[in-house]
Amino acid sequence: MPVSPSAVRLIDHLDRDHLRRALENDVRTGLTATPKHLPPKWFYDARGSDLFTRITRLPEYYPTRRELAILREQAGDIAARAAADTLVELGSGTSEKTVLLLDALTAKGLTTYTPVDVDASTLTSAAHRLTARYPALTVQPVRADFEHHLAALPRQGRRMIAFLGGTIGNLVPADRTRFLTTLRATMTRGDTFLLGADLVKDTTRLIAAYDDAAGVTAEFNRNVLHVVNRELGADFVPEDFEHVALYDEHDDWIEMRLRATRDMRVTVRALGLTVPFAAGEETLTEISAKFRLPGLRAELTAAGFTVDHAYTDPGGDFTLVLARA
Ligand code: AVJ
Repeated sequence: MPVSPSAVRLIDHLDRDHLRRALENDVRTGLTATPKHLPPKWFYDARGSDLFTRITRLPEYYPTRRELAILREQAGDIAARAAADTLVELGSGTSEKTVLLLDALTAKGLTTYTPVDVDASTLTSAAHRLTARYPALTVQPVRADFEHHLAALPRQGRRMIAFLGGTIGNLVPADRTRFLTTLRATMTRGDTFLLGADLVKDTTRLIAAYDDAAGVTAEFNRNVLHVVNRELGADFVPEDFEHVALYDEHDDWIEMRLRATRDMRVTVRALGLTVPFAAGEETLTEISAKFRLPGLRAELTAAGFTVDHAYTDPGGDFTLVLARA
């Protein structure tokens, strides 16, 4: 019997208070530090999620297309190896790519899909869309922060945990180790982990992917200022900040920054905080780490995983690694 869209119920680990305190903390800590920084998770309100979807369609932004190409070729093989009853997807966003995985996994007996994301509206609309497309599948969206709520995710059945898109690149190495180790500890024998990661490549292509000609990434970057304005009553003028994307060849990561184009004082009303910015001063808003396959395998192994298979696209731009608990 088809399930009506209203049957989708969000499990929410991010109550208003929790989110609010986390944002307040991050903004206070980040804007009083030298150099200033704001974490990338605050990009993703409804507008930020839309801008990110537009990024994935830009000619310069190759990761989504490459990951899709790998999934198109390999989803059947991945599903056969995993034979999961439950797919838990961390940072699921619009779940656009997931359809390829779901087609293959449902053919191998998948019964439940649990998308996990921070944005409720994105989660709910994805859940409705997938419920309509897979009437026999139980879709159980969970609003949670994948750095804090891994232990609270559903544990029943043989699970595949998918973390696609290269989002692991947002974590600095120490946080990555903690994330992988914590995730591994929540998994049991037979569970698998499917990890998407962007690979080191020509610097010009890397930078272009984070500094597109149409300026969509710049708008996405500035969106964090719109979010802080709305949520904490700040008076940022986003247009007075310039988008900066650079590649750190020593750490193998992209950095996105917002550069103040003039001296200014920004008031964050909810924090009773006034923040001076000097002309030219840069605030770090995101790192996006790029990987080398041997290093990535070593990190997974160190966290207690056994790497089953590493898939790449023909050009070696992106990888999907299937690992076992
Ligand atoms: C969603 C974290 C994978 O790092 O490529 C895209 C975010 N930032 N363009 C990435 C992003 C700027 C994206 N991830």
